Amino acid sequence: MSDTPSKSATDHSIVYQPSALVRARARITDWDATNAAADAAPLKFWEERAAELGWFRNWDQTLDDSNKPFFKWFVGGVCNIVHNAIDRHQVTYRKNKLAYIWQGEDGTERFMSYGELHREVSLFANVLKGLGVVKGDRVTIYMGRVIELPIAMLACAKIGAIHSVVYGGFSDAALRGRIIDSNSKVLVTCDGAFVSGKHIDLKEICDRALISDPPCPVTDVVVYKRTGRAVTMYDSEGRHDHWWHELMAKASPVCATEQMGSEDPLFILYTSGSTGKPKALLHTHGGYSVYTYTTFRYVFDIQDDDRFWCAADPGWITGHSYIVYAPLMNGATSVMYEGGPSYPAPDRWWSIVAKYGVTILYTAPTAIRGLMRFGAAHPAKHDLSSLRLLGSVGEPINPEAWKWFYENIGGSRCPIMDTWWQTETGGFMITPTPVVPLKPGSGTRPFFTIKAEIVDETGAPVPAEGEGFLTILNSWPGMARTIYGDPDRYKETYWSRFPGRYFTGDSARMDADGYYWIIGRVDDVLKVSGYRFGTAEIESALVSHPAVAEAAVIGLPHEVRGNAIYGYVLLRSGVMASPELAEELRNHVARMVGPIAKPERVEIVDKLPKTRSGKIMRRLLKSRAQGLPEGDISTLEE
Ligand code: PRX
Repeated sequence: MSDTPSKSATDHSIVYQPSALVRARARITDWDATNAAADAAPLKFWEERAAELGWFRNWDQTLDDSNKPFFKWFVGGVCNIVHNAIDRHQVTYRKNKLAYIWQGEDGTERFMSYGELHREVSLFANVLKGLGVVKGDRVTIYMGRVIELPIAMLACAKIGAIHSVVYGGFSDAALRGRIIDSNSKVLVTCDGAFVSGKHIDLKEICDRALISDPPCPVTDVVVYKRTGRAVTMYDSEGRHDHWWHELMAKASPVCATEQMGSEDPLFILYTSGSTGKPKALLHTHGGYSVYTYTTFRYVFDIQDDDRFWCAADPGWITGHSYIVYAPLMNGATSVMYEGGPSYPAPDRWWSIVAKYGVTILYTAPTAIRGLMRFGAAHPAKHDLSSLRLLGSVGEPINPEAWKWFYENIGGSRCPIMDTWWQTETGGFMITPTPVVPLKPGSGTRPFFTIKAEIVDETGAPVPAEGEGFLTILNSWPGMARTIYGDPDRYKETYWSRFPGRYFTGDSARMDADGYYWIIGRVDDVLKVSGYRFGTAEIESALVSHPAVAEAAVIGLPHEVRGNAIYGYVLLRSGVMASPELAEELRNHVARMVGPIAKPERVEIVDKLPKTRSGKIMRRLLKSRAQGLPEGDISTLEE
């Protein structure tokens, strides 16, 4: 078969077949056979995968589903993800293999082998211990895209502490909320970061986040020097700032890896939902290790000669799973780039692919659309022939972006792994492997053992081609175990709408070939440039401004970002509307949540459409803004 598209019998008619070369190299050569075997004996499938990793003690029970939806995997097993990600490579050739190739935005290069990574992680683990961090403690990490970010995460995991990485694009208020919610005693940060030619003052943002009134739990701040800009180092009762390099110089490089129960927490990661308060999803050592290790191995078909580049930020689940843990457990070499994709020129990414011989590039549709705007001449300037696979994540990929990526970046020879998954799922859920025929815009079929089903309002399965809610029927090792500190909310958010099923919050369609097509969120969550926001989160930021009485936020289609945030506000009585105030409100959201959440537009209105019971009809705002039919407005109060 060739890799030229052929027509299939379905409506979603373009199919790209894998080339002979792709098939020859694939680890899974017969997807259907592997899938059938995994379906017939799912626990056996996961036991075999788990056995490929190292355990201090083997598990007694593969899956404990006696207390649904709080599933447990590999019960009785003793392990540590760092043992598999780093320690076990120290006795093989991989000790001298590169774990990370790092490119700074300013052109600085760093190369770190598995042996060096082991040393750095051990040193920093001892630094954390020296600050009094013990197993089970939370450590917040708020850094730019430097290798020290994975080092800090791995050091936490090594000693059994729970890391909570907060993306460096969040504001001081957002950081502070997450520090308080997780009750973190230690905060790890950088002096600053270089992004798209700008300097981000990370340490200053931390200083604002750590104001002492009301009290903040952080007692120690560790600062990695990246930019060299002047920062204030505090040393007062209850708050001590330390330079990373000074603590590292005094630390011992010998540190035992803590023996953790399979179900012991590895990390929490905040993500937005349908309320104003982001929730901390909790992932564990055992199941998360097995799931991310396996999905990465099969989907990206990783081999020792690969150079893998996941262009996400380590601060998101994509980075946690596929920049840090899964590539390291597979002994892969990863490329990490610090800065913005088009800085200083629109060919920056393509120059990195060519320079380091990247073989697999995994990114988001919004980035592809952004780079596509600059034209195909930019990638054409570089030798991209090292690439053999591409990947997409974060939102549905539109056919134009798919085609552009496939032709101009992948030279029409690299299959695109469109991976559908979530912070909650830990790893890929609906995804092809390289031998699976592709249809642009579809993540193809569920990964081995995953049972997805599209249902209607009542929970009844929707026939093929019909649209409905995407649910998952079974448990998988990588699933989040709970919302940290709030198990009831976990149950309520994910397991109550369709009893007995995990509700993803997405709507989708399955075609006659069993391929899934994700349509989008159905739960007041917006994806903006791949970032996830709750409309309620932006609304509460708007309402926190003294001029605002009420706010409603919607997402409207945006060519590059997928969605753009639009806010509608009612002012408090006596406050005058003005263009300056509208602008101030946009900036207020950026200050409260982060620059990444700044609304495209804030409109000051006289009234908001509400139902008779007082609920804002966002759907109506959305259709009005787009000039679309208003639909059923029988419940409208007016
Ligand atoms: O709506 C889906 C969309 O992103 C949501 C999950 O967001 P987050 O937890 O931030 O994780 C993103 C990275 C894993 C999903 O509910 N989404 C993610 N991947 C895809 C996608 N939509 C369509 N296609 C995808 N490949």
